[in-house]
Amino acid sequence: MKNQIKSLLTKLGRYSSPNIIHGLNATANYIALGRWFKDNHFDIGVTVKHRGEVFDLAAPALANVPVLYLEFGVWKGEATRYWSKLLKHPGSILHGFDSFEGLPEDWNHATGKAHFSTDGQIPNIDDKRVQFFKGWFDQILPKYKIPAHTHLFINMDADLYSSTKTVLDFLKDEIKVGTYIYFDEFNDRFHEMKAFDEFLKETKMKFKVVGANQILSNVLFQRIG
Ligand SMILES: C[S@@+](CC[C@H](N)C(=O)[O-])C[C@H]1O[C@@H](n2cnc3c(N)ncnc32)[C@H](O)[C@@H]1O
Repeated sequence: MKNQIKSLLTKLGRYSSPNIIHGLNATANYIALGRWFKDNHFDIGVTVKHRGEVFDLAAPALANVPVLYLEFGVWKGEATRYWSKLLKHPGSILHGFDSFEGLPEDWNHATGKAHFSTDGQIPNIDDKRVQFFKGWFDQILPKYKIPAHTHLFINMDADLYSSTKTVLDFLKDEIKVGTYIYFDEFNDRFHEMKAFDEFLKETKMKFKVVGANQILSNVLFQRIG
């Protein structure tokens, strides 16, 4: 880009609200997202409208077998409740991790530090297979013993790069062929997408896209190699 144009853009910036800048960044996010899927040779098989429908794509394989379901970023427990119904096998284990004090740092101008705080309240879910672990990921995960399992589903919904990276690093050795990883906010090139991109480059693991919503924010991957 020529310097005159850069200079013009800085002048334009003086009259742009944070919302406009957020919108421009979101536009760049979606373009980068499309590029990322192409560069990584991901074929986006099924696209659906809602997050629940993305989850449902894993149901035929997981509903009736014992599954270890790990959720990072629980908030009020909406996704955990969904999975508590979806997973029918009594031997399934659902573990959710959250500070319950909200995000540890700013995500974007509209979603700052402490956003999603429940003031420490842990959701109440009427299912004995569900257990929540309260604390910051980097502090609680080193003390967490991953239960033995044959089927693993990871729900990544912590929004931030730093949080997602902490979890992916922690789970690296558990992510075997067949493991599912779901991202809830994949459409931010500086956060979940960046953490997963780095993870792929570092581990050389191969994944396929099982399905996604139309805007590729909710994306379900499965390791294939
Ligand atoms: C978008 S909300 C989760 C939404 C939830 N999965 C649902 O179904 O509605 C993101 C959550 O991630 C949590 N979180 C993000 N980074 C964290 C970290 N490093 N340690 C603990 N919790 C974290 C926040 O407290 C917040 O509740």
